[in-house]
Amino acid sequence: MTTTSQYATYPSLRDRVVIVTGGASGIGASMVEAFAHQGSRVAFLDIDASTGEQLAARLAGAAPIAPIFLPCDLTNTDALHAAVQSTLARYGTVDVLVNNAGNDARQRSAETCRKCLLGSRRRCLANV
Ligand SMILES: NC(=O)c1ccc[n+]([C@@H]2O[C@H](COP(=O)([O-])OP(=O)(O)OC[C@H]3O[C@@H](n4cnc5c(N)ncnc54)[C@H](O)[C@@H]3O)[C@@H](O)[C@H]2O)c1
Repeated sequence: MTTTSQYATYPSLRDRVVIVTGGASGIGASMVEAFAHQGSRVAFLDIDASTGEQLAARLAGAAPIAPIFLPCDLTNTDALHAAVQSTLARYGTVDVLVNNAGNDARQRSAETCRKCLLGSRRRCLANV
């Protein structure tokens, strides 16, 4: 994505709190960038700290609200929970979970959402 002006703007995404797993590269990074340019408050998790920090730095001056990068191995449930709690501490809620990373067949994405977020008595508007 080179500029934002050539893309549609969706006001309903402004200020929404969005978590993207595996957000440092690939499809996840595109999701991070797209939500950030819509004015969403994005937190993205990835095991690749170097690439995640580079993306966060690149978007810091380019997006209305700088995305937060949270280094995290998603297979470590405690680390995942801590990252979600960090997002909740900062933004107070989570509106959208983009459950992008990996190919985890252990459980359905809705179950992941329930375990990680509803344990905090919060409900996502969307679980992608
Ligand atoms: N690319 C495709 O054609 C395609 C097609 C169908 C489905 N998908 C699915 O879409 C998702 C993204 O695909 P992609 O091509 O962008 O993948 P990718 O491998 O390019 O990116 C995945 C990201 O997840 C991160 N990641 C991997 N394991 C992690 C872990 N344990 N903890 C935290 N982060 C971790 C990686 O560092 C990377 O940044 C995947 O779930 C993939 O299975 C992709």
